Amino acid sequence: MNFRRSIIITGGAGFIGSHVVRLMVCKYPDYHIINVDKLTYAGNLANLKDIEDRPNYTFVKADICDFDLMMDLMKRHSVDGIIHLAAESHVDRSIKDPFTFARTNVMGTLSLLQAAKLYWESLPEKYEGKLFYHISTDEVYGALEMNRPEGVEPPFSTAASSSEHHLAYGDDFFYETTKYNPHSPYSASKASSDHFVRAFHDTYGLPSIVTNCSNNYGPYQFPEKLIPLFINNIRKRKPLPVYGKGENVRDWLFVEDHARAIDLIFHKGKVAETYNIGGFNEWKNIDLIKVMIKTVDRVLGNPEGSSLDLITYVTDRLGHDARYAIDSSKLQKELGWEPSLQFEEGIEKTVRWYLDNQEWMDNVTSGDYQKYYEEMYKA
Ligand code: NAD
Ligand code: TYD
Repeated sequence: MNFRRSIIITGGAGFIGSHVVRLMVCKYPDYHIINVDKLTYAGNLANLKDIEDRPNYTFVKADICDFDLMMDLMKRHSVDGIIHLAAESHVDRSIKDPFTFARTNVMGTLSLLQAAKLYWESLPEKYEGKLFYHISTDEVYGALEMNRPEGVEPPFSTAASSSEHHLAYGDDFFYETTKYNPHSPYSASKASSDHFVRAFHDTYGLPSIVTNCSNNYGPYQFPEKLIPLFINNIRKRKPLPVYGKGENVRDWLFVEDHARAIDLIFHKGKVAETYNIGGFNEWKNIDLIKVMIKTVDRVLGNPEGSSLDLITYVTDRLGHDARYAIDSSKLQKELGWEPSLQFEEGIEKTVRWYLDNQEWMDNVTSGDYQKYYEEMYKA
């Protein structure tokens, strides 16, 4: 079959990647979407069950650090676009094992960049019509202060925020121009990969875009991250480990809104630009946890507040960043993107999805799916 475009999406079996793959495969039947994923503990092909038989979708189990294979894939499929999401993504794991993060996030990104450079430079049209789109995080910017004077409201759109809960926790935000200041091994590795992407543009002219997004939530997130972990623990009446006092602030965006932004930027973004993606939706962890408890209890038919006793304050994460808050007005003004969901709607959808998909959750938490894929891909 002849396709109009051929795009590699790395990390497509993970949380955000699976939403991006689904969107691109369904929205662009004339694009060939090649999902390149190593299937680490975080990758799960069950996330893509509904689209795996589509004629414009191909899955390749591969490590992005394998430079020769990346070159070969790009050549074999005449790839003209790369949307790079594959990464080690969990801060707590990076604190325990920083090497794995440097390997995949830094060396893996470099391997892809070099493969794209050599392949595209070998073509008669060279970089014309090509794009390397690198997905990054707001965590590269470091941490913001919590210094909002009592009662002062922020002077910007709060489209995705809850009506009752729309205050920012400080007077500063992460802008595209904010200096990088990563604190965790995870964010340091992502910052390094962002620098390599920009260096390949500035040195060789490789057409690239970088986007930095805030915390995502929604279906198919691996339950080591706050929201799915806590929904599952509430369901199972297990303790909810709140780090420190639960006062840290994160800016939450529904994952499908991130996927829509990626689609828009891939097609309409300007080469060499950076775009911040976020929903102006800041929550203190403890407040967010109480909303989750209320929602899960209501959906399960438990008496209101009956799971509050599961909250367990535990030792804080090392180097725990106080506050993340993204200013995404550039993306809103220049490309017309905005988040589609109010936060309460997003949380309701998310809670219902995890409760309706207990088999997915139980498979992922039992590790059965890993054994299954090890068998399936045995040489
Ligand atoms: P995830 O951990 O759920 O998925 C990562 C995927 O990458 C998995 O499918 C895994 O198998 C794959 N992978 C890991 N190492 C690989 C390797 N060496 N070769 C090939 N594949 C490999 O992560 P996520 O939350 O979906 O995040 C995706 C991207 O978005 C990451 O780059 C992350 O830094 C970025 N990001 C995430 C968030 C968030 O809140 N989750 C926010 C902003 C940016
Ligand atoms: P997480 O989902 O790990 O995302 P990130 O660290 O990339 O922001 O954590 C979100 C917030 O929740 C963060 O401030 C750490 C906190 N947290 C807990 O309090 N307990 C937990 O068990 C986890 C996983 C996170």
